[in-house]
Amino acid sequence: MSTHIAAEPGQIAPRVFLPGDPLRARWIAENFLDDAVCYTEVRGMLGFTGTYRGEQVSVQGTGMGQPSASIYVNELISEYDVQQLLRVGSCGALTERLKVRDVVIAQAAATDSSMNTLRFGGYHYPATADFGLLRAAVEAAEAGDVPHLVGTVFSSDSFYHSRPELTQKVVEYGVVAVEMEAAEIYTLAAQHGRQALAVCTVSDHIVTGEETSAQEREQTFGEMITVALDAAIA
Ligand code: HPA
Repeated sequence: MSTHIAAEPGQIAPRVFLPGDPLRARWIAENFLDDAVCYTEVRGMLGFTGTYRGEQVSVQGTGMGQPSASIYVNELISEYDVQQLLRVGSCGALTERLKVRDVVIAQAAATDSSMNTLRFGGYHYPATADFGLLRAAVEAAEAGDVPHLVGTVFSSDSFYHSRPELTQKVVEYGVVAVEMEAAEIYTLAAQHGRQALAVCTVSDHIVTGEETSAQEREQTFGEMITVALDAAIA
């Protein structure tokens, strides 16, 4: 096992879905995977491996925020040789081009996190999705008639912003939604020559104030999981 994941080598599939919430990991395993087996419960951060249309797939909770996601992604890459990392989560919409329940396919991720500032000694880094996964996700969304927008997300270290005007600034440069993990996942994938993509449903609208009910969130989360699963096995 690795420090934070209690799986034996070989128990984790080469493609791993990454919800922040460990209970979402269990929900995905129970509703979308065949023969799912739980391989870790360390710190309650559940992970499962099963099959989707005959292909091996894992789903691993990451917790919220880039430092937590970074721990799991680092170990998935270095200890379990994972090749594809697909974040599936929620985001807040920053543009009226999006409605609640839409799916955002994150082409790139800007960030206010110090993780990349420290990593690159003050230089900035364009954290981008794998193009093949991005294209496959767009094709899956189109095929399933799932309302979606491809765009840049803002991976924030803060859910509660003390300076919302800074978020407004990135919106002026085309950022469409805010979430909390994609930039670090994209950067780690690039560092290690792996593929990454983040697909998020809009759970709340920061411009219009619109929110989703728990039931709506579950339904749209399901549509998004199908898009991500179909993209991964394409
Ligand atoms: N901020 C950050 N992450 C989020 C949000 C938000 O408003 N909504 C869903 N995930």
